[in-house]
Amino acid sequence: MTLIESVARTQSLHAKVAHVIPDVEWPVFAEDADAILALKRERDAVILAHNYQTPEIYHCVADLVGDSLALARMAMTTDAKVIVLAGVHFMAETAKLLNPEKTVLIPDLKAGCSLAESITAEDVRRLRRQYPGVPIVTYVNTSAAVKAESDICCTSGNARKVVESLGVPRVIMLPDEYLARNIAAETDVEIITWNGHCEVHERFTPHEVRELREAYPGITVLAHPECPPEVVAAADFSGSTAVMADYVSRRQPKRVAMLTECSMSDNVAVQNPQVDFIRPCNLCPHMKRITLKNIRRALEENRHQVTIDPEVAAGARRAVERMLAI
Ligand code: 13P
Ligand code: SF4
Repeated sequence: MTLIESVARTQSLHAKVAHVIPDVEWPVFAEDADAILALKRERDAVILAHNYQTPEIYHCVADLVGDSLALARMAMTTDAKVIVLAGVHFMAETAKLLNPEKTVLIPDLKAGCSLAESITAEDVRRLRRQYPGVPIVTYVNTSAAVKAESDICCTSGNARKVVESLGVPRVIMLPDEYLARNIAAETDVEIITWNGHCEVHERFTPHEVRELREAYPGITVLAHPECPPEVVAAADFSGSTAVMADYVSRRQPKRVAMLTECSMSDNVAVQNPQVDFIRPCNLCPHMKRITLKNIRRALEENRHQVTIDPEVAAGARRAVERMLAI
């Protein structure tokens, strides 16, 4: 297959993203996108892509897309033999926890997360000793070993619901300090926090929000709940990546800024061409490790397979399944 043939065969794929990937750039992606579509059929594979994946992945080769909560739910319902997780390692681990018998591949093992790095299983055991009887709610952005020490998981899309479902006056919420403080502002439940931060969202400031409002009067500002509480307070709305995308699709603001990872605006812009996106974004270096090239390689070479120690997996699965049951 020549490049010209691949470009011709993938015209309908390019049409989906022509709004954000110009004609001259498409040949860079055409061969890999074409090969991935064939490999998916050959291997009975699905690609689950997080909302922060670049448009050529998100709109052209992914079968299912969404926020962390949606990806976990989708991982439970797919019939495919192989799942390729176009996202970061904790997302692939969650898919494997829910599908122990399936092959789950992550195209780059170094696609980590600063939140997952901020806490260990031993830290959680220490907190349990320090606060006996206080339930531990763990963000899915953690390792399986940390999940296994927790009572229940949450995502940014269901954190308040999870916290309130426990029916207790006080919970420990790990590891994202800002997410925990943002949820604490919405609920009467007292929340004990940890000092983990997302290296992407912690960089946004209320000053940036003020500047946006001055430069673009009437702009709608959306912030992910991993942003500092002062940023969330200065924004018009806060929600998970899927909830923010849904907000734009339903409300069709004239002009919007999404205080989150850069690819979010590109992906949501494809679906909402009449909305003007102002893009003060920060890149997630971990999400950006996933490319069409390494997705293709993952399917060709069956790598990198996600494996989890069975004892750890049993505990972590319990915490994730308890969340999904809510
Ligand atoms: P969402 O669950 O909102 O997609 O967030 C995941 C994430 O890693 C945000 O930085
Ligand atoms: Fe982790 Fe932040 Fe990247 Fe999301 S954006 S994967 S929380 S480092």
